[in-house]
Amino acid sequence: MRIIKTSSHLSFQAEYFPPPDKSISHRSIFLSALGENEVTIDNFLFCDDCFTTINVFRNLGVDIKIENHIVKVKGVGLTGLKPPLSSIYLGNSGTTARLLLGVLSAQPFECQLYGDQSLNARPMKRVTEPLSLMGAEFVFMEREGYLPIKVIGKKLRGIEYRLPVASAQVKSALLLAGLYAQGNTVVIEPAKSRDHTEKMLIEFGVRIKIDGLRIEITPVERINTKNISIPGDISSAAFFITLTLLTDNSQLVVKNVGINPTRMGFIQALKRMGADIKIIPYNRLQSQEPVGDIIVKSSELKAIEITPDEIPLMIDELPLIFLLASYAQGTTKIYSASELRVKETDRINSISTNLNAMGAEINIEGDNVIISGGKKLKGTELKSFGDHRTAMTAVIAGIVGDGFSQIDDLECVKISYPNFISDLNKILNGKVEIKN
Ligand code: S3P
Repeated sequence: MRIIKTSSHLSFQAEYFPPPDKSISHRSIFLSALGENEVTIDNFLFCDDCFTTINVFRNLGVDIKIENHIVKVKGVGLTGLKPPLSSIYLGNSGTTARLLLGVLSAQPFECQLYGDQSLNARPMKRVTEPLSLMGAEFVFMEREGYLPIKVIGKKLRGIEYRLPVASAQVKSALLLAGLYAQGNTVVIEPAKSRDHTEKMLIEFGVRIKIDGLRIEITPVERINTKNISIPGDISSAAFFITLTLLTDNSQLVVKNVGINPTRMGFIQALKRMGADIKIIPYNRLQSQEPVGDIIVKSSELKAIEITPDEIPLMIDELPLIFLLASYAQGTTKIYSASELRVKETDRINSISTNLNAMGAEINIEGDNVIISGGKKLKGTELKSFGDHRTAMTAVIAGIVGDGFSQIDDLECVKISYPNFISDLNKILNGKVEIKN
């Protein structure tokens, strides 16, 4: 795909509704499937990853319908899932894989899970290890610690577990397993990660005690599910916020976006970089989640340091910090970014390969990333590495960089953001063409 600028002045003033939140969309299917009511999910994200979750639960016997962009799930209750007729395919979706391992650990049947090439190469031991301590059994069918995995459901017991890495996916897997366990399950995080699972469980009447980094769940007989309305995804909006910051004389009003503090690391970091950015919270919660508008204007940025505790609060937006920091004045340091290595691709490698090819100076020292700022990037040939967020970061870099860029493949964008290119076209109003 080629990025062709038909005007040298890209400035825009626009209003933008980001796509629905991916993390919350996954969780809305998991919990409504396990509840006993018929649940209507409004503003669900129709992307490849979330369709994977829908298909998984259909294969487990749950009736899920999509009518006029609304998802309707007839919950089967905690014990109503049926054994699937064949192995379950998880596509590219890490969230589906990890949360599902938690649920299937407690079912009275066996099943086999596998993913695409990227997912099969992502670590699963971080989930299977604690679930095994709860009593679940797993057989690694090809490689120890990786998909494909056979899950042999068991009666589980509650445990107290200190997570070695801050991961919302692992935490959520343990909380879902904890719904079924005998006795309470306690998860202690090394740093706060996104808390959508906790919020949704509380909304549905499950007893969860949160004390700083310690989360305790009491098992239940039933989940009292309610209709769900999903806010916009700050991680998707982050691409457009970055575009605005790096384009002269521009302003973007991001509407109806989730502003949960456990997802706001990127915005907090931007404020420290000197970005002109304002959050206007709405005076209401949307299915327990805070929402609001974010107003952002083109800005001169300065370098910052990002500490290990901040990483989970901005994990999916870190690629954009690499880009922004390349333009900022000074040297940005990101400490302990190793979790980026186990995403859909090794994002430290994929992002720095692309941006360095455009003239950035990103150096890797162990798990730390050092970005020398004050650069003006130049267009070149970029690669998606089959990773949606690497691809979208490359597109934004190609637009703000000088000259002409080309990207090998944008097909993977539909994993999280199928309308990415059409949303860009709307905002840039024909000043950039992205075409074969
Ligand atoms: C997610 C958690 C994060 C994030 C991923 C979605 C979730 O992964 O990177 O895109 O929905 O819980 P980890 O929990 O592995 O950090």
